[in-house]
Amino acid sequence: MRSNYHIPKDSQGRELLYFAGHSLGLQPKTVQRTVDRELNQWARSGVEGHFDAENAWYTYHERMREPLSKLVGSQTHEVAALNSLSVNLNLLLTTFYRPTTKRYKILVEEHLFPSDYYALEQQVKLHGLSAKECIEFIPWPKENKGFSLEIIRDTINTLGESLALILLPGVQYINGQCFPMQELVEAGHKVGSIVGFDLAHAIGNVEMKLHEWQVDFACWCSYKYLNSGPGGPGGIFVHEKHLSKDLTQMAGWWGNDPNGRFTMEKAFVPVSNADRFQMSNPSILALAAHEASLAEFDKTTIQDLRNHAKSLTDLALNGFKNLDINVITPSDWDTRGNQISIEMSNATAVHKALREEGIICDLRDMNILRLAFCPMYNKPEEIALMLDRLETLI
Ligand SMILES: Cc1ncc(COP(=O)(O)O)c(C=O)c1O
Repeated sequence: MRSNYHIPKDSQGRELLYFAGHSLGLQPKTVQRTVDRELNQWARSGVEGHFDAENAWYTYHERMREPLSKLVGSQTHEVAALNSLSVNLNLLLTTFYRPTTKRYKILVEEHLFPSDYYALEQQVKLHGLSAKECIEFIPWPKENKGFSLEIIRDTINTLGESLALILLPGVQYINGQCFPMQELVEAGHKVGSIVGFDLAHAIGNVEMKLHEWQVDFACWCSYKYLNSGPGGPGGIFVHEKHLSKDLTQMAGWWGNDPNGRFTMEKAFVPVSNADRFQMSNPSILALAAHEASLAEFDKTTIQDLRNHAKSLTDLALNGFKNLDINVITPSDWDTRGNQISIEMSNATAVHKALREEGIICDLRDMNILRLAFCPMYNKPEEIALMLDRLETLI
């Protein structure tokens, strides 16, 4: 599939070794054509593109439902491509964080993505509460060994009926650990809590069955493993058991029932699928890129991608064993995806030297390098070259 992607090159036209798919995925070659198609449509028909075009913009977002539902394991009406990750998280929290005097705590992990923390902090303030009294943290695992399900379960049980919401990552962005989502939902529901996930690093990376697992809600971005371009559309999952309800929610006209949208009446009549969280009419150009990048997943299966990712990441892990570094990503295949994070004392210098040699990965907290081995476009030879360079540098 590599030939379906634009591989970044250096100034001499040599391909870079790109291990940053966990940050920004590469551009599928079909994106240009699909975006051009919509630009041409706009040029040809102006406003009439909304209804009269072959790919009418009025319902364009619906084209993302099928591929997204396959990626997260859901019914098609439970997912929507809309807004962006942090915006969607704020919207979903408004709906799903409904504290009472008894049940008001939120459980997260210590190093959750800061944007998620900001959203939670403001959300509790909106209810006249403080982060200090409401937000509980699962501590970062000792010696970077990965989170243990037992510890998380114990924390959930201890918080018990005070727990209103659990928000955890599908895949943790620093150590690349894949969380046991199904077990966490079970544990959370047992004490009566809502359970949601930030899937920024999970979608397009690990296999999920959000519907079957009874996840309440989830949100993600599309610019990492989905390769939909910088700032590409976000996405949400809301379990169908919530969708038909009279939810407390933020609203805009694009969340209204599409049949009544242009009656311009004051009543908000939410459509009974995940589109009810749409606020505005979406960017068709961004959705066009998203559509093209999602279509790449239809050329394969998530199981095939996982198998290929396993062989790539195993190759890297075997090589890392011979180096003086600490791999902080859990080694079990069930507990990780495409990203391997390594810790070393001179990571800043190594990161800089790798970049100078055309090897792209990223640096976190001064001593952690994160590398993603993406089955869509990375190949074993690149890993061998990277390991060779890393050995020399270390
Ligand atoms: C885990 C995680 N959550 C949230 C975000 C915020 O994403 P956005 O800027 O699309 O809102 C990111 C961005 O990289 C992320 O990695």
